[in-house]
Amino acid sequence: MTVKLFEPIAFKSVTLKNRIVMAPMCMYSVVKEDGQVTPFHLTHYESRAVGQTGLIMIEATAVQPEGRISMQDLGIWQDEQIFGLLNLNKRIHAHGATSAIQLGHAGRKAETNAPSMAPSAIAMNESDQKPIEMSKADISTTIEAFKDAARRAVQAQFDIIEIHAAHGYLINQFLSPLSNHRTDEYGGNKENRYRFLSEIISAIKTVWNGPLFVRISADEYNEKGNQIDDFIYFSQQMKAQGVDLIDVSTGGVIQAHINVYPGYQIRHAEQIKQAVNIPTGTVGLITSPLHAEEILQNERADLIFLARELLRDPYWPRRAAQELNYQLEAPKPYRRGWNR
Ligand SMILES: Cc1cc2nc3c(=O)[nH]c(=O)nc-3n(C[C@H](O)[C@H](O)[C@H](O)COP(=O)(O)O)c2cc1C
Repeated sequence: MTVKLFEPIAFKSVTLKNRIVMAPMCMYSVVKEDGQVTPFHLTHYESRAVGQTGLIMIEATAVQPEGRISMQDLGIWQDEQIFGLLNLNKRIHAHGATSAIQLGHAGRKAETNAPSMAPSAIAMNESDQKPIEMSKADISTTIEAFKDAARRAVQAQFDIIEIHAAHGYLINQFLSPLSNHRTDEYGGNKENRYRFLSEIISAIKTVWNGPLFVRISADEYNEKGNQIDDFIYFSQQMKAQGVDLIDVSTGGVIQAHINVYPGYQIRHAEQIKQAVNIPTGTVGLITSPLHAEEILQNERADLIFLARELLRDPYWPRRAAQELNYQLEAPKPYRRGWNR
């Protein structure tokens, strides 16, 4: 049997050495509220690169300071932030890993000193402060901010960009009828609700030729929210715009009870992959190498995103190789430990 978890996969001219992805995870570890990379970030991401994870995706990184989920978020809203990210990339690349950055804006879920913005003045919870409804000028400024962030990502030598359109953050707020009650061309039918994301993709593509991933929440767990047909429509549009992979998560746009179990989001990735014929990534309570291999062999998804399991074990790829009986080459300094 060929072990698919360790098979390379190419997106445009970028080849990942295996199918294991470090899922984006906010570390809330910026020290001076300036969005800058710290020594902790270097250690944290480099450790997983040493551990042979193929693609290291940096946590949600804010394209505007008022779009931060917390004041401790990483940022890419100004040129001064490029140097730290470039340094981080050099550390990741030194171990043969590929790097990606997740570009994000929290919208009504932002927690900063500034008032939060959203497609409509609807708070997520009654206890939350109401966000300000974005004007057309606010929308244009935010699209420009995504584009400028992508330009900085080129300078910082990221291999892949992922747009964060999931978990109820700003772009997800535009996509969902639960949070978008606009009456202009950015709200109403699904074509209009997709417009904001569409314009962000187009703007990024003017400065970025590399692979582009988009993370979506393909289930809102609410009968008045988007349904799988809507996500298939959005994914078809993204494919037509040249998006290379849909990273499929769920939830976050509204409070909901979610029944979580191992691989609870795989079927969403599988449905989109089959219906749209586009590569997908799957995430969510995947911890076992055999489970990961099953998903890939049955063509239910193309990449396996691991979040909390990589916090527990930065050397998960080594464990996976042992369990799947695959000869994984050890990082040279670790050979005496790995090749027993
Ligand atoms: C500490 C932490 C921070 C997270 N931050 C992000 C983030 O920045 N962007 C994102 O899309 N998802 C984020 N997530 C969600 C994960 O990427 C992932 O989808 C989720 O944890 C389910 O995968 P798991 O069961 O492997 O942990 C975060 C999860 C954790 C545990």
